[in-house]
Amino acid sequence: MLYDKLKKYNRIPFHMPGHKRNTKLLGNKLPYDLDITEVEGFDNLQSPDGILKEIEDKAKKIYKSDHSFILVNGSTVGILAGILTAVKRGDTVLMARNCHKSVYNGVELAGANAEYIVPEIDKYGIFKAINVKKLEEKILSVKPKLIVITSPTYEGVISENCDICELAHKYGIPVLLDAAHGADLTELAQFADITVMSLHKTLPALTQCALAHVSGTLISAEEYRIKLSMIQTSSPSYILMCSIDECLSYKPNNLKLLNERDKLIKKCDVLNRLKILDYGDIYKLVIFTGYSNISGVELANKLRSDYNIEVEMACRYYIVLVLSSCDDYSNYNKLAKALIRIDSALIEAKCSPIKLPDLPEKASELSTSYEYAVLDSSLNRVSAEYVWAYPPGIPLIVPGEIITKELIAYIKDNLSSGVNIQSTRGKLPEKIYCQS
Ligand SMILES: Cc1ncc(COP(=O)(O)O)c(C=O)c1O
Repeated sequence: MLYDKLKKYNRIPFHMPGHKRNTKLLGNKLPYDLDITEVEGFDNLQSPDGILKEIEDKAKKIYKSDHSFILVNGSTVGILAGILTAVKRGDTVLMARNCHKSVYNGVELAGANAEYIVPEIDKYGIFKAINVKKLEEKILSVKPKLIVITSPTYEGVISENCDICELAHKYGIPVLLDAAHGADLTELAQFADITVMSLHKTLPALTQCALAHVSGTLISAEEYRIKLSMIQTSSPSYILMCSIDECLSYKPNNLKLLNERDKLIKKCDVLNRLKILDYGDIYKLVIFTGYSNISGVELANKLRSDYNIEVEMACRYYIVLVLSSCDDYSNYNKLAKALIRIDSALIEAKCSPIKLPDLPEKASELSTSYEYAVLDSSLNRVSAEYVWAYPPGIPLIVPGEIITKELIAYIKDNLSSGVNIQSTRGKLPEKIYCQS
C-alpha cells in the first residue's frame, strides 16, 4: 500500500515540498511526514507505471472498467477532461439540464454547443430520472457527439444508466456519466464510456479524491490521460493518493447502513409536516418542508443552532443529508429526535406541486458588449453569466439565455428564503451581468 511506502520513506530530502517533512520543527498537526513529491520509486501520475498504476489497476478491478484514473482535483477535473476528450470545437453536447456546473464549464472550454434534455420534476420540485424515450428523440434531432447525464443526482435519483448507454451506443455516441455521488455503486462504470465519481462524497476518502473510468472503444483512454494531464495538477498530493488507495481497500457495510437508515425512517413515521423522501440511493436522505411553515434553509438552520446537526444541502423546499457506512449510528437517533421535536412545533401549510422555471430561450443574436443590470429590470435581457444555487450547482440560467419574469421571481423567492444563489460575477442579488 502507498501508505506503508510513504511511512518508510526516509531519504534526505533535497527536494520539494519545502516543509521537508520536518515534523520536529512544524509539529504533527498536519501530515507533513507523508507529504512528498514524485521522487524515484513513487511513480508519476501523468504516466504511471509503478505504485500509482497499481492503485489505478485496483480501481479498474473494483469498478470493472477498462481503464481507471486517479483524480486529485475532484470529479470536476475528470468531467472537464472527459468533455475535452470526446468533443471538439463546434460539436454538440447533449446534456441533462440538471448537470453540475463543471459540465457547463467543460462544454464552454471545449468550444462545443450545449443542447439540453430537461428531466421532468416531481411534485416536490426534484428532478426525476432521464426519460430514455425522450432522450432518443433529442438524439435524433440534435445529433450530439457526446451525451452527459448525472446519476445518481444530489438527491439520490438514479437513472436507467444501462439503457441510456445502450441507446447512445446504438447511434455510436459516447456517454459521460457524472456519478460524482455514486462512488459506492461499483457496477456503474461498466456502462458508460467515461464515468466520473467523487470518492470523497460518499466513501471514506479525503476531500478532492475521485476516480474516472474509461470503458469501450468510443473514447481513447490514451487521449483521456493526455487531456487529464493538461488540466490536473502536475504536483499531485501523495496524501490524497494514499487516501484513494486506502478507500479502494475499504468495504462499506451497506447492509448495516441500510438497516440503520430504515430504522431512522421508521422513527420518522410520526412526522406530520416534514416528509422524508426516498429516491433509492441509500447514501442520501431528503426531507421535504413544503407542507409546513418553514423552508428547507430554515430547517437546516434550526438543526444547526438547536441540535448541532449540519446537513449537506438546503434549498427552498427541502434539505439533503448524506449518510455513510462511516456514520456513528447513534447520531441517527439524535436526528430523528430533533426532527420529531421540530415537526411538533410546525404549522401546516398548503402546498401545490413545486414548479421550477421553464428552460429559458436562447437568444438568436449575441452581442459582444456587456453591462450589469439591476435584477428587477433585467426582464428580457440576455444573461452573460451563470446563476445557480450552490449546492447543488445546477445553473438556473446560462450565458446567452433570455431572462424571464418567472426566473426573476424564482431567484428572488429563493434568496428571500435564504438559499445561497450565486452568479459567475458575484453581484447577485443586486445585479446580473447581461448583454447590452
Ligand atoms: C453532480 C455533481 N457533479 C460533479 C461535482 C463536482 O465534484 P467535485 O467536488 O468532486 O469536484 C459535484 C459537486 O458537488 C456534483 O454535485
